[in-house]
Amino acid sequence: MRLPRLLAVLPVLFSSVTAQSNSTGIIGPLPNGKYEIASEGIRANFIPYGASISNLFLNDTRSIERDIVLGFDNASWYSISKLHPYLGAVPGRYANRIKNSTFDIDGVTYHVLPNENNNNDTLHGGPDGWTWRNWTVVSHTTDSITFSLDDPDGMEGFPGRVITYVTYTLTPYQWHIKMTATSLTKKTPIMLSSHTYWNLDGFQNPQTPLALNYSLYMPYSGQTVAIDSIEIPNGTILPAQQYSPNDFWSAPKQLGANITSPEILGNCGFNCSGYDNCFITNRAQDGPYDWREKGPAVTLSSPWSGIQIDVFTDQDALQVYSCNNQNGTQTIKETQGLRDGSRPRTVQKYGCVVLEVEDWIDGINQPEWGREKKQIFGPADDPYVLEAVYKFSVNKTSPNP
Ligand SMILES: *[C@@H]1O[C@H](CO)[C@@H](O)[C@H](O)[C@H]1NC(C)=O
Ligand SMILES: *[C@@H]1O[C@H](CO)[C@@H](O)[C@H](O)[C@H]1NC(C)=O
Ligand SMILES: *[C@@H]1O[C@H](CO)[C@@H](O)[C@H](O)[C@H]1NC(C)=O
Ligand SMILES: *[C@@H]1O[C@H](CO)[C@@H](O)[C@H](O)[C@H]1NC(C)=O
Ligand SMILES: *[C@@H]1O[C@H](CO)[C@@H](O)[C@H](O)[C@H]1NC(C)=O
Ligand SMILES: *[C@@H]1O[C@H](CO)[C@@H](O)[C@H](O)[C@H]1NC(C)=O
Ligand SMILES: *[C@@H]1O[C@H](CO)[C@@H](O)[C@H](O)[C@H]1NC(C)=O
Ligand SMILES: *[C@@H]1O[C@H](CO)[C@@H](O)[C@H](O)[C@H]1NC(C)=O
Ligand SMILES: *[C@@H]1O[C@H](CO)[C@@H](O)[C@H](O)[C@H]1NC(C)=O
Ligand SMILES: *[C@@H]1O[C@H](CO)[C@@H](O)[C@H](O)[C@H]1NC(C)=O
Ligand SMILES: *[C@@H]1O[C@H](CO)[C@@H](O)[C@H](O)[C@H]1NC(C)=O
Ligand SMILES: *[C@@H]1O[C@H](CO)[C@@H](O)[C@H](O)[C@H]1NC(C)=O
Repeated sequence: MRLPRLLAVLPVLFSSVTAQSNSTGIIGPLPNGKYEIASEGIRANFIPYGASISNLFLNDTRSIERDIVLGFDNASWYSISKLHPYLGAVPGRYANRIKNSTFDIDGVTYHVLPNENNNNDTLHGGPDGWTWRNWTVVSHTTDSITFSLDDPDGMEGFPGRVITYVTYTLTPYQWHIKMTATSLTKKTPIMLSSHTYWNLDGFQNPQTPLALNYSLYMPYSGQTVAIDSIEIPNGTILPAQQYSPNDFWSAPKQLGANITSPEILGNCGFNCSGYDNCFITNRAQDGPYDWREKGPAVTLSSPWSGIQIDVFTDQDALQVYSCNNQNGTQTIKETQGLRDGSRPRTVQKYGCVVLEVEDWIDGINQPEWGREKKQIFGPADDPYVLEAVYKFSVNKTSPNP
């Protein structure tokens, strides 16, 4: 039962990636341990640790190259650093928080390892979740890389063995992500994402190292998932009222437009002002749609660098995190920041923004939401699939003093 299913999946996965490879199928890492891929106008580095993106280079409105994602300078540092903010990684096997670190499948209650809020919940797959492990590089061409991970039955308390492939491909000015996870032995929760931290100025905007001036637009996101004081969904789906802090649907708005508004206090948990919220992406009102055409689900742009990202995805929600917990501890890379000593080479509060395409958070504990088919996978089911395309452009008329 297990083997035929796995064999049925593999040829499909490999046919798309081996086409461009030479005999080894793997070009190999740079001296700093990172794997580079490139296409017209875009170049990126990835590392096996967490199947993470570590660098993304684009030329801005002044044709100056910017590295617009957070990361470390070399691949080995990810395992050494005491900081582990899921930097550019693939959170798994279940992204975001699991209430009370428990869930039920077919009447059986499972307990997974807690790792947050004094062990009240499980964040991003647990203390040894997928972001803590070195994935295997199974293919690496000039414009594409594929990682795989074999997650055993019982790891972190999750039932069943899961084999996952993550392929990142660059085409001119675009980053394509495809994640496929196959549950081989038991029904288990699977929800993945890309936890990429953006600073569209590469921390080189002399006026601000923060992301608060970026324009954010999520035209399909008129609802959010209500959370409690430790950011666990309480079951309620809230309207993002027009002009409220969570209104990014009625018109593009600066990420920080309402950051000092009294209404935003508590928006991201106890005493938290900012965003760490699950925005539902409602695109089905007009009937069936093709996610590659409908969208973008979210647009983020910086008025300073002129760099804009349009995210197209098959996923039904977006977690927006405005780096509320950054506090000047995380260093920026050698490829980023100013060198005139005018400010620290670290990430400040609100210094970045994460846009996680995923499903409705903690849907496994909210059966009334009807997310089971998107979040619970067994050997009899089709594999879990996540696809996203990040399309980059540069606003040539952006003011850029
Ligand atoms: C595969 O191709 C890359 C360049 O595309 C080259 O650097 C590498 O040496 C090649 N490997 C083999 C085994 O030919
Ligand atoms: C940025 O422009 C320079 C000069 O044209 C070019 O060499 C470089 O490859 C560009 N960067 C990217 C990421 O395309
Ligand atoms: C790797 O990067 C870290 C963080 O920038 C740095 O402290 C360390 O010296 C680097 N290691 C190597 C071998 O370059
Ligand atoms: C991951 O690989 C790096 C080499 O790039 C190594 O330094 C590190 O110890 C490995 N970490 C784990 C958790 O296996
Ligand atoms: C939380 O999980 C524990 C076991 O880990 C269980 O005893 C308890 O009933 C659960 N609490 C709630 C509110 O579900
Ligand atoms: C977590 O659980 C403990 C009891 O296990 C409780 O005392 C505490 O208040 C809970 N909440 C937080 C935020 O730590
Ligand atoms: C950011 O936007 C605010 C208006 O919301 C404006 O007052 C401020 O000058 C802008 N700062 C930068 C650095 O662009
Ligand atoms: C969940 O939290 C929201 C926002 O605080 C609140 O409006 C709603 O009533 C809560 N729902 C439940 C079931 O407690
Ligand atoms: C949020 O900012 C927008 C744009 O500046 C403004 O129209 C709206 O009134 C603000 N809302 C709150 C609650 O401050
Ligand atoms: C709330 O957060 C502010 C900083 O944002 C801090 O100064 C204050 O002490 C916090 N209050 C509580 C009750 O934790
Ligand atoms: C800053 O954040 C780091 C990483 O989350 C944490 O270890 C440290 O305690 C924080 N420092 C302060 C002063 O809050
Ligand atoms: C480009 O930037 C200018 C100046 O900020 C702005 O007026 C214009 O709307 C932007 N164009 C696009 C397509 O976003």
